[in-house]
Amino acid sequence: MIEILNPTELARARETGALVGDILHTLKGRAAVGTNLLDIDRWAQEMIVAAGAQSCYVDYAPSFGRGPFGHYICTSVNDAVLHGLPHDYALVDGDLLTLDLAVSSGGIAADSAISFIVGASQPAESLALISATERALAAGIAAAGPGARIGDLSAAIGAVLSAAGYPINVEFGGHGIGSTMHQDPHVSNTGRPGRGYTLRPGLLLALEPWVMVDTATLVTAADGWTLRSATGSRTAHSEHTIAITDDGADILTLPASLRG
Ligand code: MF3
Ligand code: CO
Repeated sequence: MIEILNPTELARARETGALVGDILHTLKGRAAVGTNLLDIDRWAQEMIVAAGAQSCYVDYAPSFGRGPFGHYICTSVNDAVLHGLPHDYALVDGDLLTLDLAVSSGGIAADSAISFIVGASQPAESLALISATERALAAGIAAAGPGARIGDLSAAIGAVLSAAGYPINVEFGGHGIGSTMHQDPHVSNTGRPGRGYTLRPGLLLALEPWVMVDTATLVTAADGWTLRSATGSRTAHSEHTIAITDDGADILTLPASLRG
């Protein structure tokens, strides 16, 4: 089912999106050399609870994971790219960390992910990966608006990732979002313009380009959740929740410093 939000629901979506953007921004500021992934999970929990919001993850038990996720945020390090299960690991200089957070508030969910390098090192390969997913996300958002089709967004995302030289996995991509985190339509990270569902005002989409340096194949870690690159290569992921408006698309999950 594809949900179209009414103005009241859209106002709530903006509040939830701002909360997600602010939490991720705060966590990025705290993630330093020596920070444990379990600390990041606890901080996320504290901020979600303090805001009176609900985690979309704790009780989530989809077919692609083992049992309920049981944590508040996905923490994916280096070759881990999606659904990273927080565990007892202290970050080291040069780690490429992806934080992916979805919460619900006032009955509407928002979902966003950021990738960044921990510490002072700036490994070129990691910077290039992160840049590609951020530029692909920007291209997907630029292609979004009333009358655009899902294939237009997928093609825009895929063109950036391919031009950067990365293979594209089509098992996991973006999605509709609203009263629940994962809804139709699916938004593949590659596709053909002019195909698929036609966007309309009130639709919420989570766009989420992600890549691995040299493979499109994922392997599931022993924890039953964390998805890693099959070759052990590094990975990156960037995600925003956007709302289709009457004349374009608004990014809902920006932190306060970037909100209009
Ligand atoms: N938020 C992720 C996404 O971008 C889904 C994470 S599901 C979890 O769609 F169970 F792993 F948390
Ligand atoms: Co998502």
